[in-house]
Amino acid sequence: MKILSCYSIKGGVGKTALAVNLAYQLGTRGFRTLLVDLDPQGAAGFYLRVAPARDFPIEELKSLTGTWVRANLRESDFPGLHILPSSLAYRHLDNRLSGMKKSRKQLQWMLEEIEDGYDVAVLDCPPNITLLSENIFRASRAVLVPVIPTPLSSRTFDQLCGFFGDEDLDTTKIQPFFSMVQSRKGLHRSEMESLRSSHPSFYRACIPFSVDVEAMGARRAPLTSYSRGTAARAFVELSTEIIDRNPLR
Ligand SMILES: Nc1ncnc2c1ncn2[C@@H]1O[C@H](COP(=O)(O)OP(=O)(O)O)[C@@H](O)[C@H]1O
Ligand SMILES: [Mg+2]
Repeated sequence: MKILSCYSIKGGVGKTALAVNLAYQLGTRGFRTLLVDLDPQGAAGFYLRVAPARDFPIEELKSLTGTWVRANLRESDFPGLHILPSSLAYRHLDNRLSGMKKSRKQLQWMLEEIEDGYDVAVLDCPPNITLLSENIFRASRAVLVPVIPTPLSSRTFDQLCGFFGDEDLDTTKIQPFFSMVQSRKGLHRSEMESLRSSHPSFYRACIPFSVDVEAMGARRAPLTSYSRGTAARAFVELSTEIIDRNPLR
């Protein structure tokens, strides 16, 4: 099972929008897919109309286990797609991880326990750099990073690259793409050009700023499951590039 994480230090940049659409695309293309919602806000589960995780005795947890995952797994309404929903209890996860042995490997081990059932797991991650993020970085085949082409977003992207360097993590896992692009804005165009030249790893497909993506919250389904508009096509193209760059079987 390959692990693809949708991650950024920043919130509100399009991690969940990608996670939901990528997971849907993988499922419909025949990959047995598990969407893991690690954000206590539980937005991925909300989009897929899945109830939050059951009460999770997180204070008693000595380690992350596959047993707990299996007890909380849900089927989605979409082919080949299961989801491990989040709940508000996940806000304590980082704190608990810090008390566990091998605290940077726990997530990887937990996912290894269920890997027979899936080709790919897509992790929808909370923002910030925490012990949970370090677990995510170690477990992932690819860390997919939405970058809004503005100076502040570029700066947090640079911070992430710096963190990987400082912690001796594999920087080739970092796979950025442009999110919420408004190509009429000169600032967006110039920021994209300069980031592409300093980081050739940026995906070609860019997700435009679009009310269609915002409307996913009202529709509560992956945009690519019901729309053929510009934003939906961008998610389809980006998913194809992600699959091409990261062989999943
Ligand atoms: N490409 C986009 N165009 C317009 N709005 C977007 C786009 N991507 C996400 N949004 C909206 O921005 C907000 C944050 O997006 P989300 O995917 O939840 O970000 P994150 O998971 O990084 O916090 C949501 O309200 C979402 O509907
Ligand atoms: Mg999110």
